Amino acid sequence: MIAVLGSQGQLGRDLVPRLPGDVRPLTRADLDLDHPESVAAYFAANRPDLLVNCSAYNLVDKAEADPDAAFRVNAWGVRALAVACAKAGAKLVHVSTDYVFGLDAQRTSPLTELDAPGPVSSYGLSKLAGEYVTRTHCPRHLVVRTCGLYGAWGSGGKGGNFVETMLRVAGQGKPLRVVADQHCTPTYTADLADALVKLIAADAEGLYHLTNAGATTWHNVAAEAFRLTGTAANLTPIPTAEYPTPARRPAYSVLDCGKAAALGVKLRPWREALAAYLDERRNKPATG
Ligand SMILES: NC(=O)c1ccc[n+]([C@@H]2O[C@H](COP(=O)([O-])OP(=O)(O)OC[C@H]3O[C@@H](n4cnc5c(N)ncnc54)[C@H](OP(=O)(O)O)[C@@H]3O)[C@@H](O)[C@H]2O)c1
Repeated sequence: MIAVLGSQGQLGRDLVPRLPGDVRPLTRADLDLDHPESVAAYFAANRPDLLVNCSAYNLVDKAEADPDAAFRVNAWGVRALAVACAKAGAKLVHVSTDYVFGLDAQRTSPLTELDAPGPVSSYGLSKLAGEYVTRTHCPRHLVVRTCGLYGAWGSGGKGGNFVETMLRVAGQGKPLRVVADQHCTPTYTADLADALVKLIAADAEGLYHLTNAGATTWHNVAAEAFRLTGTAANLTPIPTAEYPTPARRPAYSVLDCGKAAALGVKLRPWREALAAYLDERRNKPATG
């Protein structure tokens, strides 16, 4: 049996229907990482062979004012999950982030799984701790770092996704100033879900990077979304310095996905993925 925590999130919603066999979508009501005792209670009554953790505290800016909230879920909750999975003989598949990088401000080439992480935010630090507790406490684990997710279901916690926000604001005729100096690879959740299913089927273990292919900036993603949808937009590229946020973001967090590609798991280029997403959203509500 495969259990999926965070099944109502944007990645979880795309992953659950793609997984084979007996799949049990879990929500916070079944297992709340903020309350580690609920982890033990879940495992006392259930025996998953594999648990995929798509849940997270991912309010990146809020985490700067309340790092404990991020650590409770992303580190200590995941630790309880890893301990419980190990005890039950279950494999833990844990989703992490490119925000474990950023400290190396000079970096300009894609980061591999062997590169030393160095977060620049409390969220990134809590997610890195989550990686380590997974690796330390659950011998059978797969940790997958990804980047800038957008999908048809939107991120509940953030109320939508970047692409939807851009299209909505442009549709209101408002000018948009979008950062053009953070280099990364935003990733379509449907593509990531397909790739996760393949990595799980290959029984991959250890640490993997999985994003769409190529590198871009949020400004370029917005420009491409406007081009593909024929949206007239007043879009200006700006440096990060002109868009201050409580949490620092990596200036460069492009992930090298060669390790997964060697197993035949490769995501399409980010432009093609964005076009596919825009096709999908025409036939589906953006949230729900
Ligand atoms: N979004 C991104 O841009 C991005 C980038 C890189 C990596 N990631 C990682 O990718 C994964 C999936 O992200 P996503 O965008 O799909 O997130 P999402 O849409 O915000 O969904 C997160 C899910 O986690 C659940 N959750 C939050 N706190 C919980 C708790 N204490 N116990 C149990 N469940 C809890 C939420 O449930 P409720 O609805 O009940 O709150 C929600 O269903 C996460 O690990 C995230 O860190 C995301």
